[in-house]
Amino acid sequence: MAEARQEIQHYLKEQAQHVEETLRHIIPEEWDFPVKLREAVHYSLEAGGKRIRPIMVLAAAEAISNDPADVDAAYPVAAAIELIHTYSLVHDDLPAMDDDDFRRGKPTNHKVFGEAVAILAGDAMLTHAFYCIALVAKQKRVSAETALAIVEDLSVLAGAAGMVGGQAADILGEQGSTSLAELNYIHLHKTSDLITFSLKAGGRIAGAQPHQIEALEGFGQRIGLAFQIQDDILDLIGDEEKIGKKTNSDVNQNKVTYPYLIGMDESKAEIKRLTDEAKQLLLSANLVNPQRLLELADYLVNRDR
Ligand code: IPE
Ligand code: IPE
Ligand code: MG
Ligand code: MG
Ligand code: MG
Repeated sequence: MAEARQEIQHYLKEQAQHVEETLRHIIPEEWDFPVKLREAVHYSLEAGGKRIRPIMVLAAAEAISNDPADVDAAYPVAAAIELIHTYSLVHDDLPAMDDDDFRRGKPTNHKVFGEAVAILAGDAMLTHAFYCIALVAKQKRVSAETALAIVEDLSVLAGAAGMVGGQAADILGEQGSTSLAELNYIHLHKTSDLITFSLKAGGRIAGAQPHQIEALEGFGQRIGLAFQIQDDILDLIGDEEKIGKKTNSDVNQNKVTYPYLIGMDESKAEIKRLTDEAKQLLLSANLVNPQRLLELADYLVNRDR
């Protein structure tokens, strides 16, 4: 058990380094725009998150195809989802939203660059994600039709009906009136949707069949919800050094969270139940290499960062 955990930690570390190498060069050096904006983008992008979403893109490609070239082809999309995720964090931390001062172990973007530049850095990352997906199609290995399907998924899952919608519902939620069904809407959209996108996109690049995409989607929704419940738990009992952000942000903002609504023990049990269900669903789809994704799901149940 401890050995399996070490193995997946090693895999995560190695994949994160590959993703970070891609991110360092993601915006063409010759593009002419204010240095401050470039600094602000790279400040948050290279601050060192876990890179779970881009790694899921790569692991999903590996789950569908035995050809390492299919995993290599997925890198620009891995970068794209990290751009979107990082933009969502920069905006999430703004005074008008969660008003947080620390992220990824460093002062938040707006604390360093000011609110206006932080907002624009987020805008730049969001837009650049779509540029990265165009790059995938230019590589030839991935067809324009597949790239178009990925653009469509990203528009839905990161947009109003996806992550942005979840964030809006989160901001509008209120302790005392938001129900568990409403909280599930919030978590499924603000968090599961980007995870689901990652899995589907990796699958698409590796040539997944529709029923395989569907299984990746079901897997993503469940581990995504479990991921956000654990985030809610870590906000209460996490180690600030490890999570790289201040605890009790949700309490200070009177947020409706899983522990708030159903309690700590029930929240932990729900993570376990969702993860088991996700793994069953993936196993029933008969993918060629589901091991990594299954290990990732198990790893996330007990994450402390
Ligand atoms: C934090 O995401 C925001 C949530 C959706 C829970 P992560 O926990 O993946 O943050 P990083 O990328 O590792 O910083
Ligand atoms: C953030 O959820 C989700 C997105 C940024 C889309 P939280 O507000 O709980 O994330 P943290 O705890 O600040 O990382
Ligand atoms: Mg938030
Ligand atoms: Mg927040
Ligand atoms: Mg949180």
